[in-house]
Amino acid sequence: MKISKICCIGAGYVGGPTMSVIAQKCPNIIVTVVDINEKRINAWNDPNYDNLPVYEPGLADVVKIARGRNLFFSTDVDKAIQDADMIFISVNTPTKTYGVGKGMAADLKYIELCARQIARVAKNDKIIVEKSTLPVRTAEALKSILDNTGGGVQFDILSNPEFLAEGTAIQDLYNADRVLIGGEQTERGQRAVQALVNIYANWIPEERILTTNVWSSELSKLTANAFLAQRVSSINALSELCEVTGADVNEVARAIGSDSRIGSKFLKASVGFGGSCFQKDILNLVYISQTYGLKEVADYWEQVIIMNDHQKMRFAKKIVRSLYNTVSGKKITLLGWAFKKDTNDTRESAAIYVADYLLNEQAELTIYDPKVTAEQIFTDLDYLNTRTELENRKLVTVVNDPYEACDNSHAIAVLTEWDEFGTYDWKRIFNQMVKPAFLFEGRNILKKDVLEQIGFNTSFIGNN
Ligand code: UDX
Ligand code: UDX
Repeated sequence: MKISKICCIGAGYVGGPTMSVIAQKCPNIIVTVVDINEKRINAWNDPNYDNLPVYEPGLADVVKIARGRNLFFSTDVDKAIQDADMIFISVNTPTKTYGVGKGMAADLKYIELCARQIARVAKNDKIIVEKSTLPVRTAEALKSILDNTGGGVQFDILSNPEFLAEGTAIQDLYNADRVLIGGEQTERGQRAVQALVNIYANWIPEERILTTNVWSSELSKLTANAFLAQRVSSINALSELCEVTGADVNEVARAIGSDSRIGSKFLKASVGFGGSCFQKDILNLVYISQTYGLKEVADYWEQVIIMNDHQKMRFAKKIVRSLYNTVSGKKITLLGWAFKKDTNDTRESAAIYVADYLLNEQAELTIYDPKVTAEQIFTDLDYLNTRTELENRKLVTVVNDPYEACDNSHAIAVLTEWDEFGTYDWKRIFNQMVKPAFLFEGRNILKKDVLEQIGFNTSFIGNN
């Protein structure tokens, strides 16, 4: 089966970069990315590549090559569905905020809407690819909706979870450790799998393209994220022990990471993991386990989240404690708002929760992030509903200059590991601050000894 037209529903952090790379690597395939959000589509089509809605190193160069050639961004969802041989579903699947499974289960509302729309407009057979992270056995629900509401056309459903990490998406897509494709174990299903294998084979070595049944593929995505998040929570748990014993978590991480069975990656102690996936996927895993009555399994994985929440709160509480138990009316500077460096994504960023805690203590926050807009920062704070929008704007100032952000501040908290923070003139910053000048390092990227020599009162994660 040869694919000549692809449609992707959802032009977000996953759909946008993934389709851009497929279009770049497969010039003979027309790729159309659609989204119901017109503002987002306009931004993808903006003549100025600085205005793309997703900030991701290298992305603009890929879009420059392919856009208008075989890569298109549009709001005409029906037409793109009709034309395509293969449809990727890449819409968001947030944690449910209502009803059964509230706070845990994935909300599949948007996935279902997509399925119904596809069923309504499709005139010929199509391969449907689940790109969104989904609970196990979602493909079954998709198939049931498509088969029962479609006009007699046949649908094959594949699971092809995305493993790219934000901030390194383009490199991750170019050199994927593996591509995973789950399909039905029937002749038809396997033909569909092969059609998708052929697309990736344009740039990924075939031995790295793994094929499995649909459920294994769906579950592998949740499992991969759960294992990665578990490593962060494990090292963060040890960071607290290091702080009370005098061990240094960076040294512990290096020592254990040199064991090839453990490996060196994902052992950076931090203020806590964020991002759209880790928490959501683990909650999902916990919910699925509970649904099947597997209490111990559910409790085991839930502890990863509990530890992460503890790490964020522990960091915020330490700031208040160090500032003589009161931050009321004091200016505190937050450097970094994104959930990690090299992205403008702020979903579930630890910074949001640290800020919220400090605002409850009536601190006056000044925030600087090189890529996140003031509008986004206020949206994140307002979304928590802890206080009125007016109060958030009264207590929080967002600035575009790091020196201005730190001027006359009682304390600085580093919440994202942006490289540029290491290049600042820290002596100049110290001189502008209220004394004693406190610095709380939530990412361990700055040099502790240098800062202390300047005169800062520092607090690093897992290293006192
Ligand atoms: C999302 C999920 O977070 C992730 O778990 C999943 O693996 C892939 O999809 P991401 O691309 O980062 O990842 O989400 P987001 O940036 O929110 O993009 C989703 C897009 O889908 C949004 O632009 C939204 O407008 C669009 N959408 C949503 C539709 O076009 N139609 C819908 O019905 C719902
Ligand atoms: C993750 C997975 O890595 C990716 O495969 C999947 O497709 C989506 O979810 P992402 O959320 O983009 O990707 O970022 P990731 O690099 O995994 O970082 C997640 C969070 O963990 C960030 O807040 C990061 O700062 C934190 N982290 C990561 C640590 O605190 N310490 C580490 O050692 C590594």
